[in-house]
Amino acid sequence: MNLNDFSEKVCKECKGENKKRIFRSENGLCQKFISKIDNLPLRCVGDWAEDKNYYLERYFSIFSNSMKNKWSKLNYIEICSGPGKSIYRKNLTESEGTAIRMLSNENIKFIKKAIFIDYDEEVVSILNKRIKNLDLQNKAKAVVCDFNDFEKINKILIENDVIGGLKFVFIDPTDCGTKFELIKYLKQKLEKVDFLLNVPYGTDLNRNLLETLKHDNYKSRKKYCDFIGEPDFFDKEDVKEFMTINNDKNSRLTEKYINYLKKNLDNIGLPYYDDSVAVKHYYKLFFITGNEIGLNFWKKISKKGPDGQQKLF
Ligand SMILES: C[S@@+](CC[C@H](N)C(=O)[O-])C[C@H]1O[C@@H](n2cnc3c(N)ncnc32)[C@H](O)[C@@H]1O
Repeated sequence: MNLNDFSEKVCKECKGENKKRIFRSENGLCQKFISKIDNLPLRCVGDWAEDKNYYLERYFSIFSNSMKNKWSKLNYIEICSGPGKSIYRKNLTESEGTAIRMLSNENIKFIKKAIFIDYDEEVVSILNKRIKNLDLQNKAKAVVCDFNDFEKINKILIENDVIGGLKFVFIDPTDCGTKFELIKYLKQKLEKVDFLLNVPYGTDLNRNLLETLKHDNYKSRKKYCDFIGEPDFFDKEDVKEFMTINNDKNSRLTEKYINYLKKNLDNIGLPYYDDSVAVKHYYKLFFITGNEIGLNFWKKISKKGPDGQQKLF
């Protein structure tokens, strides 16, 4: 197999979203093709990943550019960073992942420290090689850490001097595996911080929430409760009502679920949020902040979508 040959035009093994992705390893890396540019492994992704990059980069730019003279220190933190570059399985195009897209943005010069967290050692090692290729080792670093290991996260924040100043944190899990406690913890530690949380509406919530309510599986119930910080979500009377309702009401249950997340954000001093940006029907980018200015910036940059269309409210 020639690892550098993209002549197939489409990855036959991974193209169908419902097919088993034979050439994708467990950590999401494509096992068939590596980057033609830096000869390092790529993450296998759907083409909608570019929409995520679009919104993230626009907020990153406005955040760093507008705040550079107001704050002595701006930091960027990404949780679930991936290896920094991707390959679209639909057309075998190589693209930047979120980490390298931010590090290649011209406004990175205004960021003092950029920290990338991922629990996969191989992924972190690849991203660090890419950081070195960009000659950004003094500013950026990828670190192996589980997002549930708050003690280690604390150590990373202290060691890399990212506690003070203004911070932008992007959290990009594949499912509802992160906990509300992570946001709460980071808010307490970092204080002045904007969050962008990738919420898997289509890929996880709309598919699984109703099933989880109907089948009393403790582990899976706990995962969804932890994600929004509402331990008894499935025991609430207004939620139990959905047991008798058809599957097509799944999205109404998701809406109720997200409303509890919003209430809990209010309770921890993060009352400004917006979840109106959808990336296809797969997920939504949930912007969260304690400061109205941040929300206004987010609304400004998300008015226009990647297709050039104005968003309808
Ligand atoms: C959706 S991918 C990230 C993609 C990347 N942000 C991008 O768009 O280029 C999710 C990443 O989360 C990492 N991950 C999954 N569970 C984790 C955990 N418990 N702690 C830290 N990282 C985790 C995976 O290794 C994977 O690289």
